[in-house]
Amino acid sequence: MSTTPKKYQAISGMHDLYAPEILQWQSVEDGARQIFHAYGYSEIRMPLLEETDLFVRGIGQDTGVVCKEMYTFEDKGGVSMTLRPEGTASVVRAIVEHSLFQAAPLLKLYYMGPMFRHERPQKGRYRQFHQIGCELLGTSSPEADVEVVALADHMVRKLGVTNFELQINSLGNQDDRANYINKLKTYLSRYAADFGAEDRERIEKNPLRVLDSKNPGIQKILLAAPSMLDHLGCEARAHWEAVLAGLGHLNIPYTINTRIVRGLDYYGFTAFELISSELGAQNAFAGGGRYNGLVTDLGGPDLPGIGFAIGVERLILCLGDKNQPTQKKIIYIAFMGEIAFAEARKTAYALRKAGLSVDMDYEAKSLKSQLRHAGKLQAAHTIIFGEEEIKKGTAMVKDMKTNEQKEIPIDQLVHHFANQ
Ligand code: HAM
Repeated sequence: MSTTPKKYQAISGMHDLYAPEILQWQSVEDGARQIFHAYGYSEIRMPLLEETDLFVRGIGQDTGVVCKEMYTFEDKGGVSMTLRPEGTASVVRAIVEHSLFQAAPLLKLYYMGPMFRHERPQKGRYRQFHQIGCELLGTSSPEADVEVVALADHMVRKLGVTNFELQINSLGNQDDRANYINKLKTYLSRYAADFGAEDRERIEKNPLRVLDSKNPGIQKILLAAPSMLDHLGCEARAHWEAVLAGLGHLNIPYTINTRIVRGLDYYGFTAFELISSELGAQNAFAGGGRYNGLVTDLGGPDLPGIGFAIGVERLILCLGDKNQPTQKKIIYIAFMGEIAFAEARKTAYALRKAGLSVDMDYEAKSLKSQLRHAGKLQAAHTIIFGEEEIKKGTAMVKDMKTNEQKEIPIDQLVHHFANQ
């Protein structure tokens, strides 16, 4: 008894990307690359899999990402592996492993690729999503923060996002944060009865995360909560003021949001997000900040860092139909009969070598059916190799928009199209 083979589907929250949508992805990636190069960044490609412990130590044991969202499994050798949930920890691992900091005083690296988080899929939230990110290491100067924030702002504008807000905060240094967390805990404990079990646990383990709670009841309580910015020491205050002054000098609009804490534990000093009202609940389409202790935490030298990552799916949601790239012009080649096929194939090869985009069938079909195919591919021109024309050494070039036809010698076709 024969059974019908199962039809497989992609895993929930993970998507196939193909034309026409893929054209917008390629254009975003190309645009991002150009801008990274303008700021002196070079590309790094890391493996998708790392030892689980890298993320536990890098991102933080008590973060939502590490506690709940990682794709972790044992490999055949019994080692715990994790599909990377973000890029920063991997970049730092690579920098330390290869001593990349020895080559230059400042390191500027960018990356693009898939990340994995086991979250509940919804609009703008996926289990495999893509980031375009960068990391600048080797300086704790606030001027580096200004440049990185400016780069993020420049990049998303250049890629076509217009309706967004740059929100920025300072998380202070470690002492400022410890002092602030104590004050925040004391404040929140007064409202313990208003919190559910999960939030009470969060207040104990990671109280800063309560600040970006979306629960309206908690948001109300937070209105009168102490603010991190009132708890900055001299060092962090001077840094914060220099960052804001630099952004002001470059005329980069920003909003101070004292609730930005970011979901990863390595941040201190500057933290920022790009927010769009077009995204609904998942409104941050990029986020980043300073991480001065991460390299030492991961076994490297004292190398302060700052960076950000854009979520490509969310960026593309922000773009909507704007900036839709057009498909490269296609030339279709139609042929009638065997001799015509040989000429057509030779011409296709020559045109492709000249850098043109050419398509044709592999077996003889009616001219009508070949022209229909050309129409589906939205070809700008069709070259028709008919037996009569071939005898004269020519082919017919049809403009698919105007239906005008022109007879052109076969040996001049490359010249004709290359010069259009
Ligand atoms: P993050 O805020 O966790 O930061 O992620 C950056 C961006 O990735 C988010 O703003 C969002 O657009 C996108 N993103 C995150 N999770 C999802 C998801 N489940 N589905 C779709 N998009 C998502 C980081 O990952 C840091 N490593 C950024 C950084 C680089 N900080 C310093 N350097």
